[in-house]
Amino acid sequence: MKEKIEEIVKEIVGESIKNIEELERFRIKYLGSKNKIKDLFSELKNVPNESRKEIGQLLNGLKNKAQERFDVIKNELENSTSEEFNIDTSRPGDPIEIGSRHPLSLVRSEIIEIFDRIGFTVSEGPEIEDDWHNFSALNFPPEHPARDMQDTFFIEKGENEMALRTHTSSVQVRVMENEKPPVRTISPGRVYRNEAISARAHCFFHQVEGLYIDKDVSFADLKQTLLYFAQEMFGENAQIRLRPSYFPFTEPSAEVDVSCTICNSKGCNVCKYTGWLEILGCGMVDPNVLEASNIDSKVYSGFAFGMGVERIAQLKYRVNDLRLYSENDVRFLKQFTSGI
Ligand code: DAH
Repeated sequence: MKEKIEEIVKEIVGESIKNIEELERFRIKYLGSKNKIKDLFSELKNVPNESRKEIGQLLNGLKNKAQERFDVIKNELENSTSEEFNIDTSRPGDPIEIGSRHPLSLVRSEIIEIFDRIGFTVSEGPEIEDDWHNFSALNFPPEHPARDMQDTFFIEKGENEMALRTHTSSVQVRVMENEKPPVRTISPGRVYRNEAISARAHCFFHQVEGLYIDKDVSFADLKQTLLYFAQEMFGENAQIRLRPSYFPFTEPSAEVDVSCTICNSKGCNVCKYTGWLEILGCGMVDPNVLEASNIDSKVYSGFAFGMGVERIAQLKYRVNDLRLYSENDVRFLKQFTSGI
């Protein structure tokens, strides 16, 4: 009997238990309802009287030993950092963060959709532009201040002068060079200007350019197109107002305001109590610009417009600091949801 007990002690100490399943096997073997130690207890009645007490004590010791080993290993496994020991299949999974679309992408897509519904295609041009497409073909005189280093990021000066485009109007020129009228297109894209970064100015931002060229295109067509855009973008009660302005590439030119969407034109600090918000520049394409791209200005006329995507996003989402758009702060970005 004593030998059997010693054998089981050795067995208990020698069992290797590396995971929950092995621990459970150990429990059944030494502590379960039909365990090995119980069998020995039932043999106790056959032990001669004089040694029964001693064997009984040894058996109790054995039982405690098994329980002790079980407790120690169970504790170790539960506190183990190793995943193998610690899988809790009832635990809910870790949530996967789903990204959201950038507010500028959302607004750009909406602008594209609005103009798509009235037949405008999308065209793109390079961000690194030559002087011809960014300035000269758009009727900028050689001494125009926008050509200055102060405003434009030049990449190469001199004969092969290249710069980061300062507006998406450059794409107009590329479209006119490559396509015959009728032309109806918008050009979304990033533009660059040498500005100190602040809440109201940035060295890069986004624009959408519009161009419509055909026979008999009039200022009335321009106005109606922009009214349609404003009402699709800001709601059916939106109104527009055109103020005379100047751009080298359009004649006549105008700046367009939309009725303040924030205070319903009652006057607030965003519209500076005027009830109107400036959203874009536009005009009839200057005949010089048509001729520069070999389009006969006696046969064709057209209108163009250019708007800032950040400006539209600011009015839609009331974001008042331009820097937020490029800081990639997830707390900012995840506030914008898309229907797509
Ligand atoms: N290119 C102008 C800018 O960046 C915006 C603009 C004004 C575009 C009038 C046009 C236009 O096409 O007709 O400020």
